[in-house]
Amino acid sequence: MLSIDPLAFISENTSDSYVIKRKLNPNGVGFLHNSIVVKRTSCKQLNPYCNKQNSTYFEIPNNNSQFCNMIDESILHYAEAHSTPDQLILQELQRETFLKVLLPAMISSPLQGALLRIISEMLKPQQVLEIGTFTGYSALCLASGIPNNGRLDTIDCNEELSTFHEKYFPLLPQGVKIKAHYGNALTIIPTLSTTYDLVFIDADKQNYKAYYELALQYAKTGAWIIIDNVLWKGKVLNPANDKDAVYLDSFNKQVNNDGRVDNVLLPIRDGLLVIKKL
Ligand SMILES: C[S@@+](CC[C@H](N)C(=O)[O-])C[C@H]1O[C@@H](n2cnc3c(N)ncnc32)[C@H](O)[C@@H]1O
Repeated sequence: MLSIDPLAFISENTSDSYVIKRKLNPNGVGFLHNSIVVKRTSCKQLNPYCNKQNSTYFEIPNNNSQFCNMIDESILHYAEAHSTPDQLILQELQRETFLKVLLPAMISSPLQGALLRIISEMLKPQQVLEIGTFTGYSALCLASGIPNNGRLDTIDCNEELSTFHEKYFPLLPQGVKIKAHYGNALTIIPTLSTTYDLVFIDADKQNYKAYYELALQYAKTGAWIIIDNVLWKGKVLNPANDKDAVYLDSFNKQVNNDGRVDNVLLPIRDGLLVIKKL
């Protein structure tokens, strides 16, 4: 039996392929892909070392731009099911974001949120900077490990999102450490006069090079910078017709050649670039 996420259904079934379509979750939660064709294949064709002769496997074409997660969705669901779930308040924030905000998929996924939370709890950063607050989900995750006398500055140019911040930040203990700023991050960061232990960049992609330079300027030596969406749904592999993919590919190459940093690109969700300022 083909293992796919519960919202997907098989709409056509021929001898060598399936067409899978995906329903919109009734709560509005989840990604909406149109449809995807998967071909029947053998385990050996996918992996020459595979010895499971009797199983049927399905090849998912990686050029399908609708397929947002680059990791097989059943693996993703397994990983989510075997990770500590978000606290109820964060689950409610996810749900309200999908119900009420335009482009809700901009919010970090629960798995990515859990990773940001764990990183924050490992580093216990005193000062954190976030560029791109959106509804405040990642800010609450990143604030989780900040000690009581620490602070997270988060910046978003969309002031209408403040209703979310005012509602959700006070609901969790780490929320009191979050200071929300509204306006263009490029002009606000230099006014904050702080140096940071951890920076999370998750805003407009065409400014990533400028955000990266500012992050390096205001990060302490040995600080960490995490940058979201650097694989751009896998389009960086063949970026020709997508200006953000062209830009992000060039950005990834620039960081990889930058002697000021140590970097690892994690293929998690839309690609997370983790950088240490040397
Ligand atoms: C992908 S969302 C951030 C998601 C959030 N980090 C999360 O995981 O929940 C990007 C946000 O960046 C904001 N943004 C875009 N350009 C900006 C700029 N120049 N300065 C500040 N914020 C900006 C947008 O308003 C949007 O809310």
